[in-house]
Amino acid sequence: MAILFVCLGNICRSPLAEGIFRAETQKALPGNSMRIDSAGLGRWHIGDPPDDRGIVTARHHGIDISALRCRQIWKDDFFEFDLIIAMDHANIDRLETVRPANSTAQIDLFLKLAHNRDEAIPDPYMGGMEDFETVFQMVQTASKALAAKLVTQQMTVQ
Ligand code: 4NP
Repeated sequence: MAILFVCLGNICRSPLAEGIFRAETQKALPGNSMRIDSAGLGRWHIGDPPDDRGIVTARHHGIDISALRCRQIWKDDFFEFDLIIAMDHANIDRLETVRPANSTAQIDLFLKLAHNRDEAIPDPYMGGMEDFETVFQMVQTASKALAAKLVTQQMTVQ
């Protein structure tokens, strides 16, 4: 199973999702060989580490995302990953626009997959530390739910 988390910039939400989901799947499925990665739709921050506010928030909860580096999604991702998980509806629309016509990855919204709720993880980029904490909590809760579904095989990738 290969899972790619996607947001607009790949410096706030998706690196947090990558780090948190990796930690939760290690707890739920110790020693698993799942491939977990993240990427952005935009090119502004390619090569940059995650936003400092995200690094600090994650560290506060015992997760180190400081070594992650921003990259932009590209065509091979739509074939190499089983699941591409988007943070908001604009991400989904953009992914549907840029995906190759014969792409094989399932593209879905994070909170839809985790909780069957058609809702977004809000972009904290223009916000403050409290917004990063909110994102952390939403992503952690969703990651626990998704990891549990994978363990009990309740989730099938189409
Ligand atoms: P993200 O947040 O999509 O959660 O990484 C953003 C980060 C940077 C920008 C937009 C959103 N930006 O416009 O540079």
